[in-house]
Amino acid sequence: MPGKMVVIFGASAVLWIMFAASQAFKIETSPEYRTLAQIGDSVSLTCSTTGCESPSFSWRTQIDSPLNGKVRNEGTKSILTMDPVRFENEHSYLCTATCGSGKEEKGIQVDIYSFPKDPEIHLSAPLQVGKPVTVKCLAPDVYPFDRLEMSLLKGDSLMKNQEFLEDMDKKSLETKSLEITFTPVIEDIGKVLVCRAKLHIDEINPKERETVKELQVYISPKNTAISVHPSTSLQEGDAVTMTCSSEGLPAPEILWSKKLDNGNLQLLSGNATLTLIAMRMEDSGIYVCEGINPVGRNRKEVELIVQEKPFTVDIVPGPRVTAQVGGSVVLTCAVEGCESPSFSWRTQIDSPLSGTVRSEGAMSTLTLNPVSFDHEHSYLCTVTCRQKKLEKGIQVELYSFPRDPEIEMSGPLVHGKPVTVNCTVPSVYPFDHLEIELLKGETTLMNKFFLEEMERKALETKSLEMTFIPTTEDTGKVLVCQAKLHSSEMESDPKQRQSTQTLYVNVAPKDTTILVSPSHVLVEGSPVNLTCSSDGFPAPKILWSRQLNGGELQPLSEDTTLTIISTKIEDSGIYVCEGINQAGISKNTVELIIQVSPKDIQLTVFPSESVKEGDTVIISCTCGNLPETWIILKKKAETGDTVLKSVGGAYTIRKAQLEDAGVYECESKNEVGSQLRSLTLDVKGRENNKDYFSPELLVLYCVSSLIIPAIGMIIYFARKANMKGSYSLVEAQKSKV
Ligand SMILES: *[C@@H]1O[C@H](CO)[C@@H](O)[C@H](O)[C@H]1NC(C)=O
Ligand SMILES: *[C@@H]1O[C@H](CO)[C@@H](O)[C@H](O)[C@H]1NC(C)=O
Ligand SMILES: *[C@@H]1O[C@H](CO)[C@@H](O)[C@H](O)[C@H]1NC(C)=O
Repeated sequence: MPGKMVVIFGASAVLWIMFAASQAFKIETSPEYRTLAQIGDSVSLTCSTTGCESPSFSWRTQIDSPLNGKVRNEGTKSILTMDPVRFENEHSYLCTATCGSGKEEKGIQVDIYSFPKDPEIHLSAPLQVGKPVTVKCLAPDVYPFDRLEMSLLKGDSLMKNQEFLEDMDKKSLETKSLEITFTPVIEDIGKVLVCRAKLHIDEINPKERETVKELQVYISPKNTAISVHPSTSLQEGDAVTMTCSSEGLPAPEILWSKKLDNGNLQLLSGNATLTLIAMRMEDSGIYVCEGINPVGRNRKEVELIVQEKPFTVDIVPGPRVTAQVGGSVVLTCAVEGCESPSFSWRTQIDSPLSGTVRSEGAMSTLTLNPVSFDHEHSYLCTVTCRQKKLEKGIQVELYSFPRDPEIEMSGPLVHGKPVTVNCTVPSVYPFDHLEIELLKGETTLMNKFFLEEMERKALETKSLEMTFIPTTEDTGKVLVCQAKLHSSEMESDPKQRQSTQTLYVNVAPKDTTILVSPSHVLVEGSPVNLTCSSDGFPAPKILWSRQLNGGELQPLSEDTTLTIISTKIEDSGIYVCEGINQAGISKNTVELIIQVSPKDIQLTVFPSESVKEGDTVIISCTCGNLPETWIILKKKAETGDTVLKSVGGAYTIRKAQLEDAGVYECESKNEVGSQLRSLTLDVKGRENNKDYFSPELLVLYCVSSLIIPAIGMIIYFARKANMKGSYSLVEAQKSKV
């Protein structure tokens, strides 16, 4: 026991001090009594003397074993060095110094130990919650182990303490350990394991070493899960992103691999997120995600299936297209999912394409220009790719609807007069889809569908006819002709065109009245205003004309008032006023009578003013072609004037007698005035009576000079008689005679 040894050395030291005090020659050692040396270290024992100039030294062990050290003497000092210290050095060393007859001896106890390293902590396995684990605390190369005490703590709490009190059979370095088995709990995370070793070789300062180890508690990976976006079922060229998660402590490291055909795994990534792009069919297979941490691994598999991408064919525009006759249309066949497709076009009934095909890359176009009736087919585009064929069709439908409808009226709109509206839609196809609607304002007047069978493909002109009776209220309303070409597709809007016409309803002229100022019977030279008015819509235009003898009209003026500043005899006649507008004509007439007083009367006698008895004498009176003039032929006599019975102003004396001689007077007379002419006829007696002139000649004379005025007069009298009712032709003739 260490205590015992100290007591022994203590006693000898006391003896030595007492002895030295009595001697001048003294010996000292360093260390004084005892030293503790660690195996492997170097230790020196020094023995020095006083009171002697050249002492001699000797060293030995108490049991006389070898020194196992080197001695070096330096004057009054001797140094025993043990390097390295070994078990053989554990002795009590005695230093003997001799000075002449003086001899001094002093011993130093050398104790050895070994405690070179901190204890080691070993775990039987990584710490896992709930799994028992054995902790081993190990103190290596210890000597003397019977002085060793070891303790194991978790945090502050002691788990185990042990002293190693077994007997030591021999001196040797031994490794001692302390073991304990425990089951970690989650609360142990963050705590420390402390292994403490104490070597009690120095009562006052035991050697102590300790090792601290933080408790690393693990949770084996579990619940490894994979999420795949967008799907595990993919098409060539697609990309997929797979994310793997795994629970554990420490957080598991994620490894992505692909299972090869031979079952081996091919490492792909150490990233939790694995993205595969532009996938090919060969990329199909089982993908493995493994969560790994120091205490375990957990895997999950997912199978990706990459399918060949089917190519698609699309034809535009739509499954059907309507094209205008004469226009152009482009049919486009586009392929997706095939790099170099081959195209072919045909019609469903294998008629000629009548178009231009252009194929480039993944697209082919068929251009129909100009579109004609030959193009009304279903066109098919066939695409071949990777030995597969796909076909898509498009129905080309034709239409023609190039112009707005035309509105035609059978005539101008006249109030109350039926009118036929004709609404015509030119060059339509297909007309069995045509609808024409006629509206007045918002009101439908008529509506027609042209549902007749089409015998052949042709542009046709279709029209809608309707008769209606316009009234003045219709003026300002709008007549709409609306044509709709319906599509065979229900959902699409019909093509629509319309024309409009604003209605103006005319009213035919009527109540045409003439105002004559001052009168229709005038004296030559006086002025006259003929004013005409007429009702109607639009306001009638006035046209003044004069009626010629043949009955035809000679236009004079378009003013409402016709003025003759100074009337002449030739202005007599019938004047016609016409009120005219689009809707019709309304006329009225007035007769102007210009009166002239008789003048230029000629009273002639044939053959001469001096005739022979028995001659035929013609006395004729003419009054310059003036109508409305009476001619009165008289024979003057003292007994009274005789009115001669003249025919048209001519009086014939068949066989002149002497009594026929005398003064003849002709009076021309009308309402305005009169003129007189007279002549004297001289009749001489003769022997034989003989006619000198043929009756034919006489007749000819009468015709040329008298008949014309006579007829004029008769007409005049006749009219006068009709107008007044009281004037008789018979009377007129009578008064003339
Ligand atoms: C994993 O991938 C993501 C996204 O690509 C990237 O941001 C991250 O740095 C990667 N992590 C590792 C460990 O490679
Ligand atoms: C209407 O117009 C069409 C086409 O111009 C024509 O064939 C038809 O005879 C017309 N009808 C009438 C009443 O004008
Ligand atoms: C004819 O009309 C003109 C113009 O209104 C007028 O000056 C003239 O007096 C009229 N004459 C007669 C005879 O009414």
